[in-house]
Amino acid sequence: MNGNSNDLMKASEGKVIRPGGTIGVLGGGQLGRMLALAGRAMGYRFVTLDPTPDAPCGQVADQQIVAPYHDVAAAKQLAEQSDVITYEFENVDADVTTLLMEQSYVPQGSKLLYTTQHRLREKRAIEAAGVKVAPYAEITSAAQLRTEAERFGTPCVLKTATGGYDGKGQWVIRSLDEVEAAYAELSRAKTELVLEQFIHFEKELSVIAARSPRGEVKAFPAAENIHVNNILHLSIVPARTAASIQQEAERLAMRIAESLDIIGLIAVEMFLTADGELFVNELAPRPHNSGHYTMEACKTSQFEQHVRAICNLPLGSTELMTPVVMGNILGQHVEPLLDWMVKPESEQMAPGVTAKVHLYGKQEAKHNRKMGHVNVLAESVDAAMQWIEASNIWEAKE
Ligand SMILES: Nc1ncnc2c1ncn2[C@@H]1O[C@H](COP(=O)(O)OP(=O)(O)O)[C@@H](O)[C@H]1O
Ligand SMILES: [Mg+2]
Repeated sequence: MNGNSNDLMKASEGKVIRPGGTIGVLGGGQLGRMLALAGRAMGYRFVTLDPTPDAPCGQVADQQIVAPYHDVAAAKQLAEQSDVITYEFENVDADVTTLLMEQSYVPQGSKLLYTTQHRLREKRAIEAAGVKVAPYAEITSAAQLRTEAERFGTPCVLKTATGGYDGKGQWVIRSLDEVEAAYAELSRAKTELVLEQFIHFEKELSVIAARSPRGEVKAFPAAENIHVNNILHLSIVPARTAASIQQEAERLAMRIAESLDIIGLIAVEMFLTADGELFVNELAPRPHNSGHYTMEACKTSQFEQHVRAICNLPLGSTELMTPVVMGNILGQHVEPLLDWMVKPESEQMAPGVTAKVHLYGKQEAKHNRKMGHVNVLAESVDAAMQWIEASNIWEAKE
């Protein structure tokens, strides 16, 4: 989907990083790994900074600097070696960001991190873009939490403003009796708290949009996401909802990308209610798990698109080539997946179904740890879902 008509006017803006240049990645996890795999195919070189030796991205980059993320000397080394710097998680230390901005080229900037690191700032920025979020309130005491919980009604969701992921740093308050316990528990994190009204959503959708320094904006097709224990389990594309809703979700993501002056990717998580309303839940200024389906199903993957955006190349086509369902491989799914992978092809696939496996090179298959994913390509999402249900890879759900 193309952006607005200002594209051409702004086309001369921004530095171009040509293939052969080095991309520095703060964080060496699976997102950095898939970014490096896509970028290397385009002729870029990669250096990553991560505290764990042999990190998923370090395995495929030209070099890994092994150091903690807040290590300023290591960040300086990353800056010296890189023509452009990006990150694969949003909780980047503010001092490190400042240093990288001074000593290297960080087209994504520090403002975007500042905004998306904090749920309250993020919600205000989304509202300023003219997009709805679930009703919320900043919480500063147990007494005030009670007042707001009474106003919103139960259930409602208390969240830490910073540092949460995969449902961590959240408490679903199901009755007012839980107010004190929820406040005591989450205020231990020593960060601001935010209370949200519970949205009885029909579906969760997400859209990943990209914007380049030239001002070009494109969105990938909306994904329908199914979580198990607050961890993404499946992304279904096309989402099983009206085309008009998918288009509206894509428009909202592009509006946010423009309003926040995003460079690179922005992942927008949304709730869809039964009456067709969309509320934005949260943003992530990076490749997102719900965009892994793009790797085989779209003309351009989210990772290639991120490289294109930060290097200021023209953005690639986001067109969907085939229905797809992405299934996450958590630690408990690795053994059944590996057993399946060595089966003869006739036993692996159903007619018209192709499953593409991605593994992240992590040593220890801990329970609920993201180890890889499978993109199931099929003639319809129903056929892909049937294959997933019939396979025993995801039998161990919990
Ligand atoms: N206000 C809400 N109403 C209903 N469900 C919610 C709400 N907030 C979060 N959830 C559920 O919890 C999940 C995780 O919450 P989210 O804010 O996305 O945090 P995380 O950073 O852990 O992804 C969401 O995907 C959704 O399923
Ligand atoms: Mg989320």
